[in-house]
Amino acid sequence: MLVDHLARAADRVETYLSGVLDEDATPDRLRKAMRHAVLGGGKRLRPFLVIESAALFDTPTDDALTAAAALECVHCYSLVHDDLPAMDNDTVRRGRPTVWTAFDDWTAILAGDALLTLAFELASRPTPAAHPDVCAKLCNLMARAAGRAGMVGGQCLDLDAGKRNEPATPDRAHIARLQAMKTGALIRYACEAGAVLSRASDEELESLSTFGKHLGLAFQIADDLLDAEGDAATVGKATGKDAAAGKATLVGLLGPDQARRELNTAHRNACAALAPFGAKADTLKAAADFVVARDR
Ligand code: IPE
Ligand code: IPE
Ligand code: MG
Ligand code: MG
Ligand code: MG
Repeated sequence: MLVDHLARAADRVETYLSGVLDEDATPDRLRKAMRHAVLGGGKRLRPFLVIESAALFDTPTDDALTAAAALECVHCYSLVHDDLPAMDNDTVRRGRPTVWTAFDDWTAILAGDALLTLAFELASRPTPAAHPDVCAKLCNLMARAAGRAGMVGGQCLDLDAGKRNEPATPDRAHIARLQAMKTGALIRYACEAGAVLSRASDEELESLSTFGKHLGLAFQIADDLLDAEGDAATVGKATGKDAAAGKATLVGLLGPDQARRELNTAHRNACAALAPFGAKADTLKAAADFVVARDR
């Protein structure tokens, strides 16, 4: 079962991250806020994708764990900042108070900063499994996925549209670009990372990149459907906020039924990209099924 498989990977990643978060001398308040941001909840889908895309090439979980954990740090930082009053102003995340609610704004900003830098500390850490040129490539791809033309750029488009600055009426192309950057870039990187770690061929990397692109789109449509239709207690965060905030989403533009059809198309395209890997990609296909069917 995919959920058991996901839970086992989540355990490995959490144990690893818990150790890392206690490693260095960190001011107590900052350490506590970082632990709050990272541990306790979270599907750990992105590290799972790193681990499973590596497993396609028989790279063991142990050898993919550092890259997987590094990406989860970037993701957790993005959530801490996303929830801040100046951004989405959310008080509940993963069924618990958001970091700024449990601590305060400045602590949340610093915890996010420290998680982002920790991600690159981990990704550049020499390990017996990752040669320095592999680490450098992973760092470069992760930086690009996280930064101005990736997640951070996407967050800018998301907030700009929500505040009705730019553009006045978001169209489909704008929403597609926004989602590919905001959510797609990190998920795409997760799928590419396993190929880079395993020194796979350019064609194999390309197939995983295409899988990740469609999966990222599916993931954000599912998130937006959960916001529109989900149960807040199950989802673990407030729902019904996107429409109220005027967010540019496919659900808002097309309505939930058409958005669900787009979700199914993205799922089909994601699975089609895995064809070259045959049955070895069954776990990644199951991950795509999970993204479509998820209720949290
Ligand atoms: C939420 O991501 C933020 C989006 C990109 C939509 P997840 O749904 O993966 O959040 P966690 O890590 O499982 O809490
Ligand atoms: C945020 O998208 C994606 C990030 C880059 C953090 P959302 O704002 O829709 O994510 P949720 O719904 O708060 O998890
Ligand atoms: Mg947001
Ligand atoms: Mg948000
Ligand atoms: Mg959302």
